[in-house]
Amino acid sequence: MPRVVNLARHPTGAVTPEDFEVVEVPLPDVPEGWFLIKNRVFSLDAGFRQWMSAGAGDNYLTGMQLNEPVQSIVLGEVIESRHPDYAVGTLVNARTAWEEISLLDGSDLCSPLVAANDLALPEYMSTLGPTGITAWLGLIRVGQPKSGDVVVVSAAGGAVGTIVGQLAKAAGCRTVGLVSTTEKAQWLTEEVGYDVAISREAQPDLDRALAEAAPDGIDLFFDNVGGSVLNTVMQQLREGARLVLCGAISQYEAEVEPVTNTWELITKRARMEGFMFSDYAEEFPAVIQILESQLRTGALKTFDQRYQGIEQTPVAFCDMMSGASKGKCLVILD
Ligand SMILES: NC(=O)c1ccc[n+]([C@@H]2O[C@H](COP(=O)([O-])OP(=O)(O)OC[C@H]3O[C@@H](n4cnc5c(N)ncnc54)[C@H](OP(=O)(O)O)[C@@H]3O)[C@@H](O)[C@H]2O)c1
Repeated sequence: MPRVVNLARHPTGAVTPEDFEVVEVPLPDVPEGWFLIKNRVFSLDAGFRQWMSAGAGDNYLTGMQLNEPVQSIVLGEVIESRHPDYAVGTLVNARTAWEEISLLDGSDLCSPLVAANDLALPEYMSTLGPTGITAWLGLIRVGQPKSGDVVVVSAAGGAVGTIVGQLAKAAGCRTVGLVSTTEKAQWLTEEVGYDVAISREAQPDLDRALAEAAPDGIDLFFDNVGGSVLNTVMQQLREGARLVLCGAISQYEAEVEPVTNTWELITKRARMEGFMFSDYAEEFPAVIQILESQLRTGALKTFDQRYQGIEQTPVAFCDMMSGASKGKCLVILD
């Protein structure tokens, strides 16, 4: 019988592997208009933590229910079909769940995937999947970087952050990444290519560290964290700054910290804008094409951490949330 990872209890505070349970389920029947996919890669996305808490749910997604499979972006292959657009053998990207086998009807961010032969399949769950698309849309469409801009990125060593840093650098910007540990900061400058990395471990006073790293101020802030990090960055903006609100991970497992100093946005004529990557679906093929060509030329590199087998999914997700993993966190089911 195929296995799924259920939400065993709503996490409170930091998520733990015990919040999940791997169970066997019967193979579903396939009604007319539906198809089955065998999942090959899970994309582990920090944003889904938001919808795991008790009482979660908003205008974007409903909250996750106990003893139901945990929602996820996946890449799978059609193994049985009663849907005209999804023949057996078709590769599929979809938002479904941590399941070995998923029953789909083609809705909910589901689309057939034409993977290039010269690029590894897991790339389509990282740089060429929602992560890379989010990084590109957030930085280029929303942030509108200009050559010479000082770009600060929070959670810079994560999936979105490693790609944003490389894209900003390629756009001629000076890049400053914020991470947890000294070890991660060193990896960020030596491997990922950030100009400067600030770690909470070595430089707990972010205000001071930013003043040293960007003495003339910040032109663009790509924020994955929110809360006090956002408040601090807002004190060091340059005129015409752009603040791209991509995520707010500091509040997914803790109390919301209010953002207080909006006067800074006024005097600096700054623009702060939130976005959801899924609103730009018509742009996905063009963005993927750009990212594919950057991967091929080596202008862009994927940093990922791979876990093998569905039973590793709870640990992988917790590692990603706590910062124990680097780059994009994937579970490979092949
Ligand atoms: N708007 C959209 O359409 C969209 C789409 C995808 C993702 N997102 C958002 O993008 C952000 C990154 O997502 P991702 O999937 O790429 O995750 P990720 O960055 O790969 O992983 C999360 C990282 O955040 C850092 N972190 C965790 N708790 C933190 C805290 N309290 N303060 C500061 N840093 C913390 C950790 O790295 P350290 O070791 O450095 O602490 C951790 O590894 C999330 O906020 C997510 O919700 C938004």
